[in-house]
Amino acid sequence: MTRPRHFLVDDDLTPAELEHVLDDAARRKKDRFADTPLNGGSVALVFEKPSTRTRLSFEVGVHELGGHPIVIDAGTTQLGRGETLEDTAMVMSRYCSAIVIRTFGQDRIERLAAASSVPVVNALTDYAHPCQAIADLQTIRERRGGTSGLTLTYVGDGNNVAHSLLLAGVAAGMRVRVAAPRGYEPIDQVVRRANQIGEETGGAAVVMTDPLEAATGADVLYTDVWASMGQEEEAESKHQLFRGYQLDQRLVDAAHDDVVVLHCLPAHRGEEIAAEVIDGPHSAVWDQAENRLHAQKALLAFLLERS
Ligand code: CP
Ligand code: NVA
Repeated sequence: MTRPRHFLVDDDLTPAELEHVLDDAARRKKDRFADTPLNGGSVALVFEKPSTRTRLSFEVGVHELGGHPIVIDAGTTQLGRGETLEDTAMVMSRYCSAIVIRTFGQDRIERLAAASSVPVVNALTDYAHPCQAIADLQTIRERRGGTSGLTLTYVGDGNNVAHSLLLAGVAAGMRVRVAAPRGYEPIDQVVRRANQIGEETGGAAVVMTDPLEAATGADVLYTDVWASMGQEEEAESKHQLFRGYQLDQRLVDAAHDDVVVLHCLPAHRGEEIAAEVIDGPHSAVWDQAENRLHAQKALLAFLLERS
């Protein structure tokens, strides 16, 4: 069996490889139909949760790379009737050049990858959203000319998006601050790993509780939903607890004059982000959504080349 390169969590790319993928993403944005590394091969895009951006950007991206995307609602496959992830991976590997999956526990994607002979890509798990973070870094580079030495502040739930920003942001040389209510901080293991990466890149990870303090002087302000997919029943109870963590004008005013506002989307105006902020002059969310396409094309091209 070949040894494919997978992308299950952000630090599956070294800081140098991340930089290479980001450079290639910028090149692909300028010249969208430059090459066709998929060369007629197919890519399975498997979804166990809803998606707009990830599904569309991968489907369009695979097509633009000269491949055939197969979008699969996992519930309609034999996975839904108990076929194992391992057997599914072995069969898909016989047809496809790569497998992209959005699922729940990180253990599920790890099991799939362990049995796959083609690259497996994390299109969001409960633990991480690493494709999102590459697009976020591309957007920051575009707006601020680079990432190294900048401060990115994430306010809200210490979730999958926060984990990926910690790992990828520090890999890109940023200081990443996460301000979350007590009990909703990112997991320690991620913060420790981010700081370990920072020893090489000069970046650092800090967890805080005060959103205003965290936003002060920040170059990038970022937030995400308070209740992630699969945790919808927590939404109501979190509302009160997270109220002070809204990305609002008060935080924008405390940040750098040229602060870049990001949100992975979908957004809930009036909850985790104020309408005037997401629709305001600092917001880069539509470029950020577009960059999913370019970043993932660069990532797929990289993984295929190295597998
Ligand atoms: N940001 C993101 O992953 O969006 P979707 O859930 O629509 O794919
Ligand atoms: N944290 C969110 C991100 C959605 C793109 C979720 O997991 O639902």
